[in-house]
Parts: sequence; C-alpha cells; structure tokens
Amino acid sequence: MAATNMILLGPPGAGKGTQAERLVADYGLIHISTGDMLRGAVAGGSELGLQAQAYMNRGELVPDELVIGIVRERLDAADIRAQGVLLDGFPRTVAQAEALSEAIIGLALSPPVVVNLTVPSAALLRRLTGRRMCRQCGSIFHIDRDEVEVGTPCPVTGCGGEIYQRGDDQPEPIGERLAVYLRQTAPLIEYYTAKGQLIDIDGDAPPPVVAERVEQALSAAGIEKCE
Ligand code: AP5
Repeated sequence: MAATNMILLGPPGAGKGTQAERLVADYGLIHISTGDMLRGAVAGGSELGLQAQAYMNRGELVPDELVIGIVRERLDAADIRAQGVLLDGFPRTVAQAEALSEAIIGLALSPPVVVNLTVPSAALLRRLTGRRMCRQCGSIFHIDRDEVEVGTPCPVTGCGGEIYQRGDDQPEPIGERLAVYLRQTAPLIEYYTAKGQLIDIDGDAPPPVVAERVEQALSAAGIEKCE
C-alpha cells in the first residue's frame, strides 16, 4: 500500500510545528518544514539562504521558484516513498500547490490529506510573541507554558542548547506574516476543499487536545497511527 502523505495548513502560530513533532512520531512520516529548511540555509550562509533572508525578515514569502525547487528535490527520495511525508509550511501559494500536485503525480506518491488548523487571530499574536525555540534540537516552547527564556539552556533532556527568539516573531513581521497568510495562503483552503482533501481542525485548545482532535479526524478518514 502507498505511504500516507500529509500537509499541515494554517496561519503563522496555528501550531503546525508543534503538531508536526507528534505526527511524525505517531505516523512514522518524514518531516519537511520549509521554514526550518530556509532558516538552516540562512544560518549556513548558502546561496539560497542569502536570497531568502530579506524576505523572511520582512515576513514575506520567499519566491515560489526557490521554495518549489528545494521541496521537489527532497520529495524524490526513498525514505519518503517508503514512509510518507508531512509537509509543514508548504504549499503556501496556489502556484506551490500546483507544483506539488505535479510532483506527486510525477513521483507516483499518494495524494496528501490536508490538515487545516484554525485559530483566532488574537491567540495567534500571543503564541508568536511568546514563542521561544532551541537552536540545537529545534524544540518549540512558549513562555506561558515552559520555563524558558532567551539565553537559558534548552530543558529537553540531554540537549541544553541555546534558547532563542525567531527574528520574525516581532510585532512588525508578525503583522506582515498574518496579512500574507490571508492574501496568499488562505485561498488554499478552498483549493483543497474543492479537491475533497481538506480536514478542518479547531486548533484553539492546548496542544495535547489539538493532537487528539487530529488523531480522531485522521482515524475517521481511515488513517491510523503506526503500531
Ligand atoms: P514558517 O517557519 O513556516 O513559519 P509560519 O508558517 O509563520 O509558522 P510558524 O512556524 O510561525 O507557526 P506554527 O504554525 O509552526 O506554530 P508553532 O507550532 O511554532 O515560515 C517562516 C518564513 O519562512 C515565512 O514567513 C517565509 O518567509 C518563509 N517560508 C517558509 N515556507 C515558505 C514557503 N512554502 N513559501 C515561501 N516562503 C516560505 O507554535 C507557535 C507558538 O504557539 C509556540 O510557542 C507554541 O509553543 C505555541 N502553541 C502551539 N500550539 C499551541 C496550542 N494548541 N495552544 C497554545 N499554544 C500553542
């Protein structure tokens, strides 16, 4: 049977990265986060990073041709054919969705189920301004829930990496990211609804409750966790 593929859709701060950590563990999927890939490219000073940095700092989308290229290349891999992929932060435009659809057909992968996390705007702002991350293990925290601040060691057992705040988690880029989402990414809700691939999940609850909702909705769609 062909491996299951998933897309996590939702505005900035909807909890895509948080739910992705659990989904990849529970469903054995390979995680592709375009945000993480781009931040890695910026930190590594690669050509892609140099091109992407200014867009990301402003809260704008990186041009489609750059992002589509890196995702298409990563999708053509044996681990993804065998285990399935969880796409987090991609696609973000209709052009990206069309390119993904072509790649999926070309690589003979199964059509993705699209999990759309919905969260009210006021909650998104608080989530984003309070987010802290670990530079080493990539774990995602929130100052309201976790005992972390910029400069403290990562509390994950055996990690101890540096906790930092993303440069685009400041009020100005956050405002731009939310506006960009409404303008360029929200149309994908209709796009995938028309294809019968979208599952809406109310993401306005603590992470374990949202995870439970996702699991139930996936189970209803015939997708079960790994043993
Ligand atoms: P990206 O990294 O994808 O950022 P984003 O979509 O803005 O999403 P976030 O990472 O901000 O939020 P999230 O939904 O993952 O929330 P999280 O789980 O962390 O992209 C960054 C930039 O890269 C873009 O602006 C763009 O420039 C570029 N880029 C990336 N992909 C691109 C593409 N395809 N095309 C073009 N450009 C692209 O949670 C947020 C906070 O809330 C955390 O503190 C978390 O602890 C907390 N939280 C999570 N869930 C809950 C909950 N249920 N209740 C309470 N708090 C919660």
